[in-house]
Amino acid sequence: MQNAKQRLIFALDVDEFSAAEKWVSELHENVGLFKIGKQLFTKCGPQVVQMVRERGGEVFLDLKYHDIPNTVAKAAVEACKLGVRMFNVHALGGPEMMKKTVEEVDAWCAATGNQRPIMLAVTILTSSTEETLRAVGIDLPVAEMVPRLAKLAKDAGFDGVVASPQEVELIRAVCGEDFQIVTPGVRPSFAALDDQKRVTTPAAAITAGATALVIGRPISAAPNPLDAAGQILAEIDAALAAK
Ligand code: C5P
Repeated sequence: MQNAKQRLIFALDVDEFSAAEKWVSELHENVGLFKIGKQLFTKCGPQVVQMVRERGGEVFLDLKYHDIPNTVAKAAVEACKLGVRMFNVHALGGPEMMKKTVEEVDAWCAATGNQRPIMLAVTILTSSTEETLRAVGIDLPVAEMVPRLAKLAKDAGFDGVVASPQEVELIRAVCGEDFQIVTPGVRPSFAALDDQKRVTTPAAAITAGATALVIGRPISAAPNPLDAAGQILAEIDAALAAK
């Protein structure tokens, strides 16, 4: 990931093809990637990925695969065939699942000459608390689980993780500098908090070591969304320059 635009991921949190189309047309000048999640993909299917690419955007397919190794690996190859730039799995699926996915994606890329997408793992969802983990039989604290799962992802050959800005330091400590950390929960000073509780500004997230930022409502709810995205790019650039 090079410039600020490639580090800004807009969350396409809409449920209509036409709304997604409108956002991509409006924002693609200032936004490098568009995150398509379970709702939009379930509603609109692969055509929505194609639409984003045709309109000059790249896609982060946020489907968080978690299944037996063979099933996840095959789904990941299908994501590659759609031409997504980034996709993710749950690290809780385990090392074998992640290794098999890397293996099959690498084999497909070698056979077709396509560039490998950025492969990310989700560690522990930020909606999970220690109580959630205990309920499913995990007694370790979140702060131990997150770096542990990040390290498993790295060792399996994944490129990075999705994590809260508060977890960046913990992850960097075990996974080093050459590992991508994509963070949601980012709020520029001009935006409302919405339902996000622990937020960080774009500059603080980049300074802390985030590689890319997932941002939705601070852009979509702004009076001028393209301009809001532009302001975030300037903030990312300034933080990168100061590093
Ligand atoms: O509108 P907002 O900037 O809060 O959108 C953030 C996006 O990142 C949403 O798509 C949300 O589901 C996602 N996300 C998040 N927090 C996480 C994981 C994903 O906000 N821990």
